Amino acid sequence: MRIDIITVVPDILTSPFEVSILKRAIDKGLVEIHLHNLRDYVTDNYRHIDDYQFGGGAGMVMMIEPIDKCITHLKSEREYDEIIYMSPDGERLNQKMVNTLSLKENILILCGHYKGVDQRVRDHFITREISIGDYVLSGGELAAAVVCDAIIRLIPGVLGNETSALTDSFQDDLLAPPVYTRPAEYKGWKVPEILTSGNFPKIEDWREEQSYLRTKKLRPDLLKNE
Ligand code: ADE
Repeated sequence: MRIDIITVVPDILTSPFEVSILKRAIDKGLVEIHLHNLRDYVTDNYRHIDDYQFGGGAGMVMMIEPIDKCITHLKSEREYDEIIYMSPDGERLNQKMVNTLSLKENILILCGHYKGVDQRVRDHFITREISIGDYVLSGGELAAAVVCDAIIRLIPGVLGNETSALTDSFQDDLLAPPVYTRPAEYKGWKVPEILTSGNFPKIEDWREEQSYLRTKKLRPDLLKNE
């Protein structure tokens, strides 16, 4: 998989890909991340990427020309399965979307800033708008990092034990069951006996029940399709 990210602040997006699982995925050649600085596509001497909005109103708007130049350049080199705009008014990110995106070959992500981008960018280039929640960030970069992390960990070979992604919370609209490790007793706080019983079918039943009870308590909205 290849992910291209267009941004005016590429520095925000360097460290997430330089450590831990995402770095390993890149080192193993399972994913390529390419950051593109929008300012490299500006033609005026002042390197302006934004301007006042037509009709008046507070806040600057990212201009169409540098974005057009950048996207057109990238599209001339490969075909993108999705051109995503990170925006608080996009479709809310969930595990189902992440699963779908993890199967794509080439993804292009545009990060917005200020009041956002000229609407014509959204009308003519963007295939999908994604929000990571109902709050406004100062730019789309952190949201893009969230999307990339969620996608990349699902690519086969990225996680050591592939089944561990399948048992994540949300994969079957349920939260994950509680997990424990050694010691079996700490300060008198005991691990549920079933987990040390060696009875694996019973342990599986217990985990399913715990998943259900936890979801019912913490996220009853996920059970509404029952
Ligand atoms: N840009 C600003 N806020 C955002 C959000 N909540 N999700 C995605 N992109 C954003």
